Amino acid sequence: MDSAALRKKFLDFFAARGHAAVPSSSLIPDDPSVLLTTAGMQQFKKYYTNPEMADRDFGSRNTVSIQKSFRTSDIDEVGDGRHLTFFEMMGNFSFGGYFKKEAITYAFDFLTKEMGLAISYVTIFQGKEGISVPKDEESARIWRSLGITDIREEGMDDVFWGPTGASGPCGPTTEIYCKNSAGEDIEVWNIVFNEFFCSGSREELLAGNATLEPLATKGIDTGMGLERLAMCVQGKNDIFETDLYAPLMDLVPSDFTDTQKRVIADHARAAVFLLADGVRPSNKDREYVLRRLLRRAIVMHDVRPLIERTIEQYGPTYPELVREKDSIVSAYSDEREKFMKTLRHGLKEMERMPSGDAKAAFHLYESFGLPYEVIKDYDGGKRAIHLTREQFDEEFKKHQEVSRAGSSAKFGGHGLYMKTGEVTIRDESEVEKVTRLHTATHLLHAGLRAVLGPEVRQDGSDITVERTRFDFRFPRKVTPEEIKKVEDWVNDAIRHDYQVKWEEMPCEEGIQKGALGFFREKYPPRVKIYTMHDPASGEIVSCEFCGGPHVQHTAEVGKFKIVKEEASSAGVRRIRAVVE
Ligand code: GLY
Repeated sequence: MDSAALRKKFLDFFAARGHAAVPSSSLIPDDPSVLLTTAGMQQFKKYYTNPEMADRDFGSRNTVSIQKSFRTSDIDEVGDGRHLTFFEMMGNFSFGGYFKKEAITYAFDFLTKEMGLAISYVTIFQGKEGISVPKDEESARIWRSLGITDIREEGMDDVFWGPTGASGPCGPTTEIYCKNSAGEDIEVWNIVFNEFFCSGSREELLAGNATLEPLATKGIDTGMGLERLAMCVQGKNDIFETDLYAPLMDLVPSDFTDTQKRVIADHARAAVFLLADGVRPSNKDREYVLRRLLRRAIVMHDVRPLIERTIEQYGPTYPELVREKDSIVSAYSDEREKFMKTLRHGLKEMERMPSGDAKAAFHLYESFGLPYEVIKDYDGGKRAIHLTREQFDEEFKKHQEVSRAGSSAKFGGHGLYMKTGEVTIRDESEVEKVTRLHTATHLLHAGLRAVLGPEVRQDGSDITVERTRFDFRFPRKVTPEEIKKVEDWVNDAIRHDYQVKWEEMPCEEGIQKGALGFFREKYPPRVKIYTMHDPASGEIVSCEFCGGPHVQHTAEVGKFKIVKEEASSAGVRRIRAVVE
């Protein structure tokens, strides 16, 4: 049975039992407290507390749907053959139409009679005193009456659903496990008995900071992943062998590992569905989730063929993919281009990296925001064969210790601080911005000296994603005309697109070269010197001690603007500037 037949069987089975078929809602939920749609019940949440609205909206208190769903919680598990980010969630729902007996019997009949599967075992809620929810004896009785004897008791973590969002319906669940072709037990279906309304979020409930009130009308909410069902019915070992994924997997070159192939296929497919619902890659919330998926895939492979194949394959079921085809493909291409540009610097460094050198890998992370997985997977994993997560984390720890001690991170007067794991890619565009601001700061320093004279001495600097702040010794206020001249000088240097080069050398040699530094800091014995020089006149435009990173050509800095000039302390002026 192919996936199209499975979808149809499911919808027909429940339609024949009085359920109204409701189309999937968007992956962008109505509920602002939820990032993405994670389950079929989300679009039905309000009906559990207002069942009469279901009569009005669906002509029934029972519905069935196949919902586009996305779970960020599983993102790091993708690659193991069982976990996905995006998936299709089949579900039947009831808002007072029926309860445990019917819900369990429907699931039993659908799996054993329609799908021809054997149930390995089921789970039920073991009860929890603190929240006064008793053990689910009733479900156990119903399962036994259907001939299921392997009934396992589990707790809050596994068999108590919800609520989704800031508050909402929730309750104990019973899960059904079937075998895949390798004989492993796979959870295929989860049946939730919505008996309570929770006053707070799930986290608040688990922490004892929310209360449960019995719902006036008890409800049913179920979820069965189409991909897992297909794996069991089609006799496959993992979901990537099913007809939902095999055509995408075939488009990934065969020299990639299975894990890499799965990540590429999952991420490309998920990105298509997010793009079709209007999400665009950016640096926060769901936009960031999309960016992370795309960049993780792109660093391994140009996934455009998979993007196109997903649209072709899923278009008949999800017409929005066909409708949005052009915008999906162009958003992908834009993001790829942007990412490749950011990567260019990093990749150059990576090429020079001895494989397995954790120090070099950490340098890439620190300077270019390339996370461990990206470094590891770059070029099909050929570069960093021996690099391990442990070594990388070890470097990370060392760096944190050094930062805390306050030495290397402030090297050059403006250290670049990166954050840890999860937020890394989020910071990639920030790294790009900060990199541009670093170079702008060198040009500002040089411009101030060109306009105000060589007595200008750096007294400190601080760079954030928004702006650079530069302190320098100078005995008087800088006039608006002088500010304008400095600004023009810097923009002129940017327009000339000078090359930015660096060399490592002994500290003494840097000093002899006349490189500008911030000598309140103690420099290490070997230093990096960044220079920009004008090939036409042969003059040095800027030469400074600095840990970097910097752009490679000044034109990358963009438009430079001084936004404020003020006194910082006696004899010290402070300038704030931005790049656009
Ligand atoms: N809402 C039930 C589930 O997603 O498992």
